[in-house]
Amino acid sequence: MAKILVTGGTGYIGSHTVVELLQNGNEVIIVDNLSNSNVQVLEGIYKITGINPAFENVDCTDYVQMERVLNKYPNIDAVIHFAASKAVAESVEKPLMYYRNNLLSLINLLELMLNYKIPNIVFSSSCTVYGQPDKLPVDEKAPIKKAESPYGNTKQIAEEIITDLAAANKQLKAVVLRYFNPIGAHPSAHIGEIPNGIPNNLMPYIAQTAAGKRTELKIYGNDYNTPDGTCIRDYIDVVDLAKAHLAALTHLLNNKQEKQVEVFNVGTGRGLSVLEMLTTFQEVNKLKVPHKIVARRKGDIEQVWADPTHANNTLQWKALTPLTETLKNAWKWEQNQKK
Ligand code: NAD
Ligand code: WQD
Repeated sequence: MAKILVTGGTGYIGSHTVVELLQNGNEVIIVDNLSNSNVQVLEGIYKITGINPAFENVDCTDYVQMERVLNKYPNIDAVIHFAASKAVAESVEKPLMYYRNNLLSLINLLELMLNYKIPNIVFSSSCTVYGQPDKLPVDEKAPIKKAESPYGNTKQIAEEIITDLAAANKQLKAVVLRYFNPIGAHPSAHIGEIPNGIPNNLMPYIAQTAAGKRTELKIYGNDYNTPDGTCIRDYIDVVDLAKAHLAALTHLLNNKQEKQVEVFNVGTGRGLSVLEMLTTFQEVNKLKVPHKIVARRKGDIEQVWADPTHANNTLQWKALTPLTETLKNAWKWEQNQKK
């Protein structure tokens, strides 16, 4: 059993990870300022696990408040750092807000980790760092491309900050997880993704259209150089993704990681098109989702999917949930939102 500080722990990926941590006997302290999540998520976590993790409504950019948290909960073994703003388009409109929130949160946390002798961090990065890869599937050795957005840039800079700090502090160990496209919800439907306003991402948009909250799904372009003309992504079940964090922690806490910083792709290794996702969602849930093809969305990558071999072999982690289950869970969660 370990004592884990989870920033952003009431968010989409954070809440699913907290559930896995609790179910595996860990003690969890959540820090979240609820800027993009809801305190009711804690009830969902309780319904699934029967445990109320410690919760601190604190902004990670506030050094003094973060220090208070670390004084209140001594001897933390590791931090999983999810807290960040993540809307790509908003980051183009408000770059300073993104640099401040995502980077100041990380800098504060790392400084406190050094001061409080917390040696391990798992950091949420993104496949966005690869841009359009030259080779597919993309592995961790692929070059980092110039970021398409301030959001993407915060992830690239964050990875560099972690690497530089590790070089200067031999006691620090970090796992950087580059997530591909997380989708779905906990099978219990007690927790899931709660998009803020009109969803930007494909899966919540499909689910909300199926529920009648949106009139039709707009498919952004069918003239890409892909088999059916629509973009291809590596969609990963959020519970599988949550389990990757447990695998990363086990790797760190059992001192299995030789390098100070290790980077892992967290994806399925399977690329699926927008049309394949839509068709499968309709089939497994036995419903129709009104849709139409519209122009390409600015900044979209044509196709990207992961080579997850490094995580499969080194972390003994693999994405296992069939797509059909993930899409059923996404729909079950959406239906729960109406209640
Ligand atoms: P989310 O918005 O659901 O969760 C992030 C949580 O962090 C929210 O609960 C929010 O309230 C909190 N938060 C934000 N800024 C904070 C601050 N300054 N102090 C305290 N709490 C703060 O997002 P998510 O989808 O769960 O993403 C989690 C992490 O994974 C983020 O770092 C995100 O950039 C990264 N990521 C997400 C995706 C994705 O598609 N969802 C893909 C790749 C990487
Ligand atoms: C997937 C595909 C769209 C909505 C974004 C961020 C990325 C990462 C994950 C955090 C694309 C198409 C979508 C719709 C559509 N986040 N689409 N109609 O763009 O791969 O990645 O989220 O790190 O950084 O950029 O995900 O779900 O928005 O889009 O046709 O209404 O679905 O064009 O091909 P994306 P997405």
